[in-house]
Amino acid sequence: MSEVASVRVLAERLARAAGAIQRDRYETSFSVRTKTAAIDLVTEVDHACESLIVETLAAERPRDAILAEEGGGEDRADAAWRWVIDPLDGTMNFAHGYPRFCVSIGVEREGIAQVGVVYDPLLDELFAAVRGQGATRNGRPIRVSHEREIGRALLATGFAYDVHRSADDNVDHFARFVKRARGLRRDGSAALDLCYVAAGRLDGYWELKLHAWDVAAGNLIVEEAGGRVSDFEGRPSRGDGRQTVASNRHLHDAMIEVLRQ
Ligand code: IPD
Ligand code: CA
Ligand code: CA
Repeated sequence: MSEVASVRVLAERLARAAGAIQRDRYETSFSVRTKTAAIDLVTEVDHACESLIVETLAAERPRDAILAEEGGGEDRADAAWRWVIDPLDGTMNFAHGYPRFCVSIGVEREGIAQVGVVYDPLLDELFAAVRGQGATRNGRPIRVSHEREIGRALLATGFAYDVHRSADDNVDHFARFVKRARGLRRDGSAALDLCYVAAGRLDGYWELKLHAWDVAAGNLIVEEAGGRVSDFEGRPSRGDGRQTVASNRHLHDAMIEVLRQ
C-alpha cells in the first residue's frame, strides 16, 4: 500500500473512532466551557475526541506534525506530513442536542492537501478524498451539482464567533444572498457544509474567519468532487479559511460578484 493510501486508512479509522465518541455522548450530560467569546463553546467531548486522535497519531506516526483545534499535538515545520484536525466541528450544535456535527481530518504532505476525511456519526456518512483520486461518500463517488443560476441555488454560510462585536460580520453578504438564492442555510458545521457542496446537496457555500482545521478536509473533498474553492477575490484558497467560497464551479463567479458588491 502507498503511504498516501495508508494515511487515508488511518484518517478514516480515527474519524470513525472519534465519531463513535460523539455518538455515545450525544444528548448526555457533559461539561461545556467558553473560549474566545460567550458564544464560542468547547465541551469535554471535543477534548476526548482530540485526545484519541492525537494519542493514536503519536503512537502510529510519531514523526508527523499535528495542528488540532484544541491545542493537542505538536506542529513542527520540519515534518513532511501534517494532520489538521477539527475533533468536533459543530460544537454549538452538539452542546444543544442539534443533530449536525462531525469529525474533520485533513492531511498535507509538504504543505499540499493529500487526504481529507469528514465523518458524520449520526448519519454514519463518511466523506473522503485523496488528491487526484476523486471524492466519495461511504465509498461511492460524489460530484458537485450542475446548477448555473443563483436563483435556483441552495446556498449555505456561517457566522464567526466574533459576530456580536465585529463589523466584519457577514450579515451584509447574508442579506444579499437571501434576496437572490432559492434558499439559504446556516447549519453550524463548516466541514459538513463543504461536503454537502461536494455531494451536490448544496450548490455553494461561503464563510469568513474560518480556521485551517475547519477547511483542511472539506476543501479537498470539494475540489476532488469537481467543485472550486477560493477566497472572496477568486484566488485559490490558501487553506487558512479566512475567506472561503466553495461552489459547484458554475456558480463561483456569480457568488464572488455578490460578495464583492
Ligand atoms: C464552527 C462551525 C460553524 C462555523 C464556525 C466554526 P466549531 O466550528 O464550523 O459552522 O460557522 O465559524 O468555528 O467551533 O464548531 O468547531
Ligand atoms: Ca470547526
Ligand atoms: Ca471544533
